[in-house]
Amino acid sequence: MKIRILGSAAGGGFPQWNCNCFNCNGLRTGTIAATARTQSSIAVSEDGVDWVLINASPDILAQIRAFPELQPARAVRDSGICAVLLMDAQIDHVTGLLMLRERSTPLPLYATAQVFGDLDSGLPLMKVLAHYCGVDRNLIRPDGEAIRIAPLATTQFHAITLDSKAPPYSPHRNDPHPGDNIGLQIVDTASGKSVFYAPGLGAISPAVMAAMRSADVVLVDGTFWTEEEMITLGLSKKPARDMGHLPQSGAGGMIEILDGIRAARKILIHINNSNPILREDSPERALLTAHGIEVAADTMEITL
Ligand code: MLT
Ligand code: MN
Ligand code: ZN
Repeated sequence: MKIRILGSAAGGGFPQWNCNCFNCNGLRTGTIAATARTQSSIAVSEDGVDWVLINASPDILAQIRAFPELQPARAVRDSGICAVLLMDAQIDHVTGLLMLRERSTPLPLYATAQVFGDLDSGLPLMKVLAHYCGVDRNLIRPDGEAIRIAPLATTQFHAITLDSKAPPYSPHRNDPHPGDNIGLQIVDTASGKSVFYAPGLGAISPAVMAAMRSADVVLVDGTFWTEEEMITLGLSKKPARDMGHLPQSGAGGMIEILDGIRAARKILIHINNSNPILREDSPERALLTAHGIEVAADTMEITL
């Protein structure tokens, strides 16, 4: 199994269009050691030809251009993207669906009832896409059942519900339900190896901890370094956990959690542009390295 990181940044990307924080400004002016990142998405393949896209980022067209393997060109209109699986209904994970509208057949789409509900109401992408390629709906139950997505033959996906919230636009934003957000165990049944992927992880439930413990590779929430990061930088009034993201530093933070698991690779993804770990020479990045934790970048590949 092969996983390609298409986009490793949180919503807004890096640099963010309207942001002049130390990182965004430093990247634009070339005064910090860092690389640009697009918004949150990965692709999973067995043969390098057919790819399941996990989340459809607003940057999807740039991501496809940057990764020619997604263009096998077997017909005059063709794509290597065989299906899309959504982990939540956040803007940075779903709006790329609109860019796939030129397909000639309905798009095979995998999501929970909660996510389809939001895409039928607060952000009615399903209704809009019905006027273009249409969507072939496949319901995911967030109960760990094995999901297979054709034509992938040896890959199984298992969705685990996360303790988090629906997006700000959702009619049930303040009434959380299982399936608003999922984590994903991606298992290569041929080798028995697995990846646990959760770009948004606000709290570590026993089920999430078990999934992280059994994974060979964890690819988890790297949004914020501190709980107060957005507030301290004057970028927002919300603390990290309020936004559904466990910060890396401090007691009970992601570094401490990752120290307790034995995965061969521990990788942070969905990194917000404010996060000091984006600077390759920062003390925060050095601390991650000392703990054996990597920072995802666009174009990174994981082979299991
Ligand atoms: C989040 O995960 O909190 C998002 O990046 C929010 C967004 O896309 O607006
Ligand atoms: Mn996000
Ligand atoms: Zn910024």
